[in-house]
Amino acid sequence: DKGAYPFYMLKEVDEQPAVMRKLVQKYFKDDQPQLDEKLLQDMADADHIYIVGAGTSYHAGLIGARMFERLTKTPTTVHISSEFAYEQPLLSNKPFFIFLSQSGETADSREVLVHVNEHHWPSLTITNVDKSTLSREATYTLLLYAGPEIAVASTKAYTAQIAVEAILAKALGEFKQIPEAQDFALKQQLGIVANGMQAITDSKDKIESLAAHYLSKPRNAFYIGRGIDWSVSLEAALKLKEISYVQAEGFASGELKHGTIALIEKNTPVIGIVTQDRTAGLTRSNLEETEARGANTLTIAARHLAKEDDTIVIPDVDPLLTPLLSVLPAQLLAYYTSLGKGLDVDKPRNLAKSVTVQ
Ligand code: M6R
Repeated sequence: DKGAYPFYMLKEVDEQPAVMRKLVQKYFKDDQPQLDEKLLQDMADADHIYIVGAGTSYHAGLIGARMFERLTKTPTTVHISSEFAYEQPLLSNKPFFIFLSQSGETADSREVLVHVNEHHWPSLTITNVDKSTLSREATYTLLLYAGPEIAVASTKAYTAQIAVEAILAKALGEFKQIPEAQDFALKQQLGIVANGMQAITDSKDKIESLAAHYLSKPRNAFYIGRGIDWSVSLEAALKLKEISYVQAEGFASGELKHGTIALIEKNTPVIGIVTQDRTAGLTRSNLEETEARGANTLTIAARHLAKEDDTIVIPDVDPLLTPLLSVLPAQLLAYYTSLGKGLDVDKPRNLAKSVTVQ
């Protein structure tokens, strides 16, 4: 039931702080995540983690890979399930597979899991739906506890996937006695994330007017960033495409000048995501380069890196967790752009919530 909300998507965006708190409650005992020891042992025995997913779940995997590499020192790669199913890379000797799927029913991902099971490789499904196909067929399951996600555009499942990946990376890193994991105060950080999400969802009016001003007319738009901000820009662009039909691209900001900047013309919206110390200045100069060619730029910046004329400032959190906040303004920009065009936000054309064909 969407209650007083006009669309499920807005309700689901607003539920994100509560989902973060629920995950803390479900997975932590005192300050430590409590996960199945057998799962951690199987993962510790692996020499490579392969993350598999589609759409938004693939994008959540891009964030997770950074966490697994940093906190567990296990090489990790992320794969689009429909690609992996038919053309596998050369696999390592002891692979461990993580399937990310909100529904647990995505046919492309299942195709990969069938292959994984034929080889008796250990696997984990991270899903919102208990006893879904991918959950039943994998060795292990971790649930997202996000509650039903009805809107076709995935929002709270994306942030829940990232939070569960962080919990798993912290637990595995602790298990392997990796100092970076031991020093990562994840439970406390997730509390900061929940409050930060609340602050962003409380600023809906501002985001609604930004959407009207910057995104209601153009046919194209760009989200740009570097590193983890680039990964978020892919998800941000998907949200905008999917429900507002603006052709949006998420782009590695340093790569723009190698060709794509030719597409920038007067009033093209370019939204920069700036949350990382090392790359903030670089992304800002890439934004300026587009501005010099007529782009209408917006910045989503972490508070400690913010400048006076930044459009949207988000609270500071650990650098690995910034996607949990930086994606929210993008979800809301997409929502209000779609709403402003009078579209059916929850049921965009040509799309189904769960893609059970290949
Ligand atoms: O249920 P899944 O997470 O496996 O679904 C994967 C994609 O179909 C899904 O994330 C899709 O990209 C969303 N509609 C994006 O908002």
